[in-house]
Amino acid sequence: MAPPVVTIDGPSGSGKGTIARAVARHAGWHLLDSGALYRLTALAGARAGLDPQDVQGHARLAGAMNVTFGSQSDGTERITLDGEDVTSELRSETTGSGASRVAAWPEVREALLARQRAFAQPPGLVADGRDMGTVVFPDAALKIFLTASAEERALRRYKQLKDKGSDVSLPALSREIAERDSRDSTRAVAPLKPAPDAEVIDSTGLSIGQVVDRVLAIGRSRSLWP
Ligand code: C5P
Repeated sequence: MAPPVVTIDGPSGSGKGTIARAVARHAGWHLLDSGALYRLTALAGARAGLDPQDVQGHARLAGAMNVTFGSQSDGTERITLDGEDVTSELRSETTGSGASRVAAWPEVREALLARQRAFAQPPGLVADGRDMGTVVFPDAALKIFLTASAEERALRRYKQLKDKGSDVSLPALSREIAERDSRDSTRAVAPLKPAPDAEVIDSTGLSIGQVVDRVLAIGRSRSLWP
């Protein structure tokens, strides 16, 4: 029997990564940060000196790049590309924008499909992204679509990047996020939208703990965890 999958999709800054991590920890399940794979593809392309418009080259890299997902001794995530720790480089808004560009190409999405599905291992998987519930795991046991107002999402990302020591400006970040959301929502393949059977949660004004509790309660009502 296929292991159970919980999908958490939503726009940038909706908090899906944080929520997904907390839910996976609670359930003792695996975690897939699918956005990291698109970010890694953009980064691998830049490092290989690919033309930013080279679709086939990026698709080849998406399927072949050598990446690992692990954690540091303090429990925070650690992602490597060709053996090198690229965790902080991956989080920059430049890499995010690059990711959103390569993510619009069907060839790249196709090349990442098998990689993403391979994360579904016992005892279960929590997967976050844009198309987890609509395309990658259409049979997921629970699909969450997380939203929040544009202002709050920009502010959350701003604080996140500031905490990591990045020099960012809120107006510039808001603009970049709006551009990225518009590209993610209007692209022809796997656009950002809730699956018809998704539970939509608006996290504006809610704390992380409140959103996690809500997701855990829905999962409990479906007997996914005690
Ligand atoms: O979630 P994150 O901000 O890391 O995602 C970076 C970009 O990767 C998104 O803006 C989106 O274009 C793309 N992405 C996607 N499908 C996913 C996850 C991310 O297209 N499942």
